Amino acid sequence: MSGPREISIVETSEQLAAAAAELVRAAAAAAIRARGRFLLTLAGGATPDRLYRRLVDGAQADLFEWARVVLLWGDERAVPPEADGSNYGRAMGIFGSLVPPENVVRMRGELTPPAAAADYAAQLAQLAADGRRWPRLDLVILGLGSDGHTASLFPGPIAAAEASAATLAVTADYEDRPVDRVTLTPAVINDARQILFLVAGQAKAQAVAALLSGNPDPERWPAARIQPADGVVTWLLDRPAAARLGVGGGQAPDAS
Ligand code: 6PG
Repeated sequence: MSGPREISIVETSEQLAAAAAELVRAAAAAAIRARGRFLLTLAGGATPDRLYRRLVDGAQADLFEWARVVLLWGDERAVPPEADGSNYGRAMGIFGSLVPPENVVRMRGELTPPAAAADYAAQLAQLAADGRRWPRLDLVILGLGSDGHTASLFPGPIAAAEASAATLAVTADYEDRPVDRVTLTPAVINDARQILFLVAGQAKAQAVAALLSGNPDPERWPAARIQPADGVVTWLLDRPAAARLGVGGGQAPDAS
């Protein structure tokens, strides 16, 4: 049994960013009110850029108590922070100095992937309380690859460590992106209070249809491994990404 799932489809990528910004702002307000801090885990890739820019621009920026926001990452490529492929570098190019440096929990891509994975697991343990190995994350933003990957959980046999470890070193070919990576595991992501899949573009339509159909194979469609026990999963889709969904949000008859 897993937590509730909500699916929203909007027409354009700007509307997607607006809807996502509202969700992030509400999650931040609730977390800061309840616990004095907002543990926000960022996705890499290109899709979230418009959302991140919206969060830092103008009036929206004033809606956040940035000093109480803690930034984490769902995954990182094994490249230095200043390299083009760095998820950290891409996001901090937008967030800049809004978040206090001590609140930025960076995956150290300059290390070897196993060392970076161990280092991030140690950072997560430091953030946790009551002897936990990781904190309960308030919101995890996830992207979706056209192959159904999310974070750096890629198609193929599921490693036993995905259910027990906090982080994993991963090697995967996807587009022209760096091959060596570090990722949060489903164990950490599924413990989150809220998960937001932010998906745009026709290239993702088949993966979206497969994942929102009855029972997707989690080896073939890794995003299906994201099944939080009681956290809320929200899918925010633009119209092209939802193109192969049936009217009810399930898989369109012709999707394969
Ligand atoms: C990464 C991301 C990855 C990304 C998807 C979608 O490090 O590449 O974390 O999981 O979210 O590949 O990427 P786009 O948004 O660029 O399509």
